[in-house]
Amino acid sequence: MNINQFILNKQITFLNHGSFGACPTEIFQDYQKWQLALETDPVQFITKTGPKFLADSKKRLAGFINANPDDLVFVPNPTHAVNILRDNLKLNPGDEILSTNLEYGAMDRTWDVYCSEHKTKYIRQEISLPLISKEKFIEDFWKGYSEKTKVIFISEITSTTALKLPVYEIVKEAKKRNLITIVDGAHSVGHIPVDLEKLDPDYYTGACHKWMLTPKGSSFLWVKKNKQKDLSPLIVSWGYNAEYPSGNQLHDYHQFNGTRDFSAYLTLPKAIDFLIDHQYEAKAKSCSDLLIKNAPKFCELLKTECLAPLRDEFIGMIVSFPIQTKNPLKLKELLFDQYAIEIPVMVHGDQVYLRISCFWYNNQNDLDVLYAALTDIIEQKTDVLIVT
Ligand SMILES: Cc1ncc(COP(=O)(O)O)c(C=O)c1O
Repeated sequence: MNINQFILNKQITFLNHGSFGACPTEIFQDYQKWQLALETDPVQFITKTGPKFLADSKKRLAGFINANPDDLVFVPNPTHAVNILRDNLKLNPGDEILSTNLEYGAMDRTWDVYCSEHKTKYIRQEISLPLISKEKFIEDFWKGYSEKTKVIFISEITSTTALKLPVYEIVKEAKKRNLITIVDGAHSVGHIPVDLEKLDPDYYTGACHKWMLTPKGSSFLWVKKNKQKDLSPLIVSWGYNAEYPSGNQLHDYHQFNGTRDFSAYLTLPKAIDFLIDHQYEAKAKSCSDLLIKNAPKFCELLKTECLAPLRDEFIGMIVSFPIQTKNPLKLKELLFDQYAIEIPVMVHGDQVYLRISCFWYNNQNDLDVLYAALTDIIEQKTDVLIVT
């Protein structure tokens, strides 16, 4: 597998699969095929044939994540999914949502809005970094628990810090404590095994447009059976008090949000075939191995520390390094403009991280290109990258 099978600009060293994924040409062509079918006969496609293909797509996705298709609804992205939950959560003033200080910014903002409107508290429990073990993470997490905690919200793989978190253990314990469990699996599907039967949270959202390689705007929300009846749609449309109910309220309420192009969802069968044909699990392992092999070298260069032990347990196809810079934006721009490297430099709290994604089309040479660019920038001794 090389970059030529992807639409990506070949002049760029692309080390940021994590932000918005990247679509292989083959899957993008499938997407265009669906778009053409839609525009060829918009009425038939949107009202009759499209929904049937959508159901097929959902079945394939359900098989991929060990879930029942009846419990899944397509959404454009995890942000949308979490906003459905923001709109539905019924907490009392003083209640708390327990989370970590490692969550994605858009989600933090969503829960901040919920909490200010409902006089509840979003607890961003501090997790000690570097992680030293699953057990220590779990211990840190539950320090944020109080008798007011009603909900937990946690990422399966974090964004800026790029860490796999022990969500199975956290959800299991949360259930013992009778808490509502929400898992943000934006980085999970196609990246690590996802088994919703086994995890069994109340709500789970995942993005297909990152590591599953579909075009942008295809994600899902999974809702536990006993929570589906009470979930109001974020956007009210024809599925609400439907003239012809399908027998599945989750689908009726959330699936049709007015006229729009749902072709991206229809590429899932193609994308899943693509992943399987290319032995995605073995590829994920080699990408992660490559990162694990290179990480100590980058730590030494940047005079920094890895955020977790370099093991599969914590590291997947992304890894982040805390760096020192007075101007994160300038560093990102410099890497792109002068060295043609696409890589995120992200601020999280009072820390800045450089995050390397290593996907199937990346190789040692890409990491060497980054290493050389960083060496060059460090040698210039500016405050854009400070190494002490
Ligand atoms: C942990 C995490 N959650 C949620 C999201 C949101 O994804 P989207 O912008 O597709 O809604 C991201 C995006 O990178 C993420 O990293």
